[in-house]
Amino acid sequence: QLILDTLHAHSTIPDTRSLVIPGQSEPAASQDAQITILGALNSLLSRDMVKFDTHEIVSHVLTAEGSQIAADGSHEARVWSALPTKGQGSPVTLVQLKKQMGDETAKVGQGRAFKNGWIGKEADGLVKLASTIKDVTQLDLLEIQSSGTLKSGEKNLADLRKRKLIVQRKGQWFTVHKGSDFSTSTAKPETDLTVDMLTSGSWKTSTYKKYNFEAEGQPTDGGSLHPLLKVREEIRNIFLEMGFAEMPTASFVESGFWCFDALFVPQQHPARDLQDTFYVSDPSHSLDPEPEYYKRVSTVHEHGGFGSVGYRAPWSHEETTKLLLRTHTTASSAHMLYKLAAKCRGEDLEEDDRPAVGPAGDENDGFRPAKLFSIDRVFRNETMDATHLAEFHQVEGVVADRNLTLADLIGFMKVFFTKMGIPQVRFKPAYNPYTEPSLEIFAFHPMLDRWVEVGNSGMFRPEMLEPMGFPKDVRVHGWGLSLERPTMIRYGINNIRTLVGHKTSIEGIENSPAPML
Ligand code: PHE
Repeated sequence: QLILDTLHAHSTIPDTRSLVIPGQSEPAASQDAQITILGALNSLLSRDMVKFDTHEIVSHVLTAEGSQIAADGSHEARVWSALPTKGQGSPVTLVQLKKQMGDETAKVGQGRAFKNGWIGKEADGLVKLASTIKDVTQLDLLEIQSSGTLKSGEKNLADLRKRKLIVQRKGQWFTVHKGSDFSTSTAKPETDLTVDMLTSGSWKTSTYKKYNFEAEGQPTDGGSLHPLLKVREEIRNIFLEMGFAEMPTASFVESGFWCFDALFVPQQHPARDLQDTFYVSDPSHSLDPEPEYYKRVSTVHEHGGFGSVGYRAPWSHEETTKLLLRTHTTASSAHMLYKLAAKCRGEDLEEDDRPAVGPAGDENDGFRPAKLFSIDRVFRNETMDATHLAEFHQVEGVVADRNLTLADLIGFMKVFFTKMGIPQVRFKPAYNPYTEPSLEIFAFHPMLDRWVEVGNSGMFRPEMLEPMGFPKDVRVHGWGLSLERPTMIRYGINNIRTLVGHKTSIEGIENSPAPML
């Protein structure tokens, strides 16, 4: 309030050491007073009521001995006042003085008082010579106590420092101006409009705190990554460091053609049944695929070709155009492989449409090798239980190159799973309509102490690759894994419904660490 009133009267305070705190006779020049003033200035600054500049100075404070002298007088003054005036009483001996005020004070004080001519000897004792004295030491110390310095200057300060009565201390004083929200009232501005303020009408006269658009706000505690996303990121990084490019997988809805026919899955295959696949009712059918490719696919199914006898079963056009939620991301791989073979068919693709490829060989047939992966959602009409949901994520990859063998696939798997922290893998012959040979992949799980199935893989069949236009020596191996399975193992989750869906614990997700990163 003193600061505000002074500013109101004089509009600036050039030196806060000149402020006189109410109830005190002297200005607030001491460092203790300046520290109190700084507290008030900071609080007023935060409300834009004042602006101030800080000035650094060296000031002095009293030591314990200095404080005592400031209160009781110097040793020499105390000796002087303990003595009788010459001729007016019996002189006091040094022994008596020591008894009265202690050895130190008596000895030092007596010496100085002599030097100052304040006292003299009489008989075997001491008496006053001066009738009045000026105790400069005490006066100087009192001045330093209230102002932090001496008007008489540095020489005397140095002397008192040498006598260990004062020490130097860094100090501050301030120059103060009115701030943009200056007022003489220190009433705290309102930060909220309340019901009480509205009903009492006090809102009309209240002052309000300005909204601070620069404030950073409370940190929010939402926004953690789901474990599936963390594991997906890890697996994505493994692919990227092995030189794979990510396939576009945004199309959850596919046609029967790309999900099954292009992969040489027979139209009568049970996986295509309503019990296993979700079909889309509106729109229910896709446009026709590219006619020449379609012809080659339907022919290899119905009549064979490319060294195959085919299924020799009736072919339904209707079946190929049915729209469905993709049951595996191999539908996306089929799209990409078809694009990869475009050059081999003599077609040119738009830049954006071209898969990332390796260098061409000498063959001049348009083929270029590729390593592609995807991690995205698939849908199956499953009976849901502790380990199955109707939708989950597949980790899928394909490698296309000339003369790849099954050993390449197995070798790749070993490297890939080792990078995932699963060094022990085993393979078991399996069946897929689109791969031959096919391998199920098993990993030894140390925590579970048993082998668990982690994926399915194989060499794509010529009935799938050759209708796309790939040269005969091009082999493609591929594999699919679920993302949920390694995630559940990694986080020790045994019911998938605690990982995905409304029973998921938000807190568990916030607290689960990134597994490998
Ligand atoms: N599509 C297979 C599945 O869903 C995985 C797979 C992909 C197998 C590629 C072989 C080749 O299980």
